[in-house]
Amino acid sequence: MIRRWKTLFEPYRIKAVEPLGFASTAERERALHAAAYNVFHVPAETVLIDLLTDSGTSAMSGEQWAALMRGDEAYAGSRSFETFQKAVRELTGYREVIPAHQGRAAEHILFSVLGGPGKVFLANAHFETTRGNIEATGAKAIDLPAPEAADPANPSPFKGDIDTRALERAIGEHGAANIPLAIMTVTNNTAAGQPVSMRNLREASEICAKHKIPLFLDAARFAENAYLVKKRETGYAARAAAETAREMFSLAQGCWMSAKKDGLAHIGGFLALKDKALADRAREAMVLFEGFPTYGGLAGRDLEAIARGLSEVLDDDYLEHRLRLIEFFSERMRAAKVPIVEPPGGHAVFVDAKAFLPHIPPEQLPASALAGAAYRTGGVRGAAMGNFLRLAVPRRAYTQSHLEYVAEVFSEIAAQKDLVRGLKRVGEAKGMGVLFARLEPV
Ligand code: F0G
Repeated sequence: MIRRWKTLFEPYRIKAVEPLGFASTAERERALHAAAYNVFHVPAETVLIDLLTDSGTSAMSGEQWAALMRGDEAYAGSRSFETFQKAVRELTGYREVIPAHQGRAAEHILFSVLGGPGKVFLANAHFETTRGNIEATGAKAIDLPAPEAADPANPSPFKGDIDTRALERAIGEHGAANIPLAIMTVTNNTAAGQPVSMRNLREASEICAKHKIPLFLDAARFAENAYLVKKRETGYAARAAAETAREMFSLAQGCWMSAKKDGLAHIGGFLALKDKALADRAREAMVLFEGFPTYGGLAGRDLEAIARGLSEVLDDDYLEHRLRLIEFFSERMRAAKVPIVEPPGGHAVFVDAKAFLPHIPPEQLPASALAGAAYRTGGVRGAAMGNFLRLAVPRRAYTQSHLEYVAEVFSEIAAQKDLVRGLKRVGEAKGMGVLFARLEPV
């Protein structure tokens, strides 16, 4: 319905509000210093608009909050598991449904069963936890992104695609017998949240079928992918996102999902697949670290909230608003003379920090420097990812005016960007680089 109107308006009204944290510039300056110039370590209270991630930060609907009260906390075989299983089966068409406490837990279960030295996993791109879980087993994770993805300014509509020729080559090189599965991450978070086209997904599915390699989706942002297909791919404009989403799942043999994104929930995830034997191995593997297979590290109430979220997220009005909001945000950032990855994907605007701050060489971490500047200048928090600063938009939580404000902050930074200084690492960065890095101005 809202597509008919020029005005971009939220297809919901607000039932509960949460005040923003207005810290002073001096307070933020002090917090940033204490956080070793890493915005992951500033108190969230001092952040005004938090675009660090779109994960677990969505606003739940009244119906989701009500669903929490329906949670059945039985240890095994709870009614909430039945509700959850039904919702996931209807969405994906896969019979075997295994809950997990979040996406990376589902990855951990799956790759602890399928990984191991000598094994190779191929994907359009692996998210960092996916890669981490694969490599932890001694296996290899290889990204095969479409060539257009390398150029941030290239406006091709489906820069999340896999390079199908590279896929064929990699299968030939490593041997199908050593490839337990191929992965399509939809949307492709590592490639700036760009979507995968149905055409590419179908081709990848055919190649995998020919070599008898199961294809799995990393479905964290499946609904946004489906709606970007509707907007950008010939033949899909008239279809509901739900129908396109079901077609996406039908082209694969299984998926895992972080329900903290398109599940519209604060926590949760799952593994869903066709192969019963593999599912049973996963169920056995998970008991030690995730729990019994009908709750998988979650409370019954969480299963209820996710089941409800999975249907709300496929509302075409919700998705139309969501993606137009990202477009609006992109337009304002372009107007503020901030180079962004084109075209915008589904969940975030990625600022090309290296292009924006050419006086800061890559070894002085322009994206982390910009993250600090955005926080200091306007209390805006984003996440450095390589040379990009990701400004991820939580679902249903911020309005158009909030993002207009963020663009104003960036236009102020643009006006005096020579003042932004590079950073250098101090001490040893333990674990995942950006999360624990300690930095100081050069
Ligand atoms: N796959 C993708 C594509 C993701 O973006 C994420 C998480 C995961 C898997 C792991 O799921 O967090 O529930 O364990 N992405 C978050 C982000 C952290 O900020 O992009 P999780």
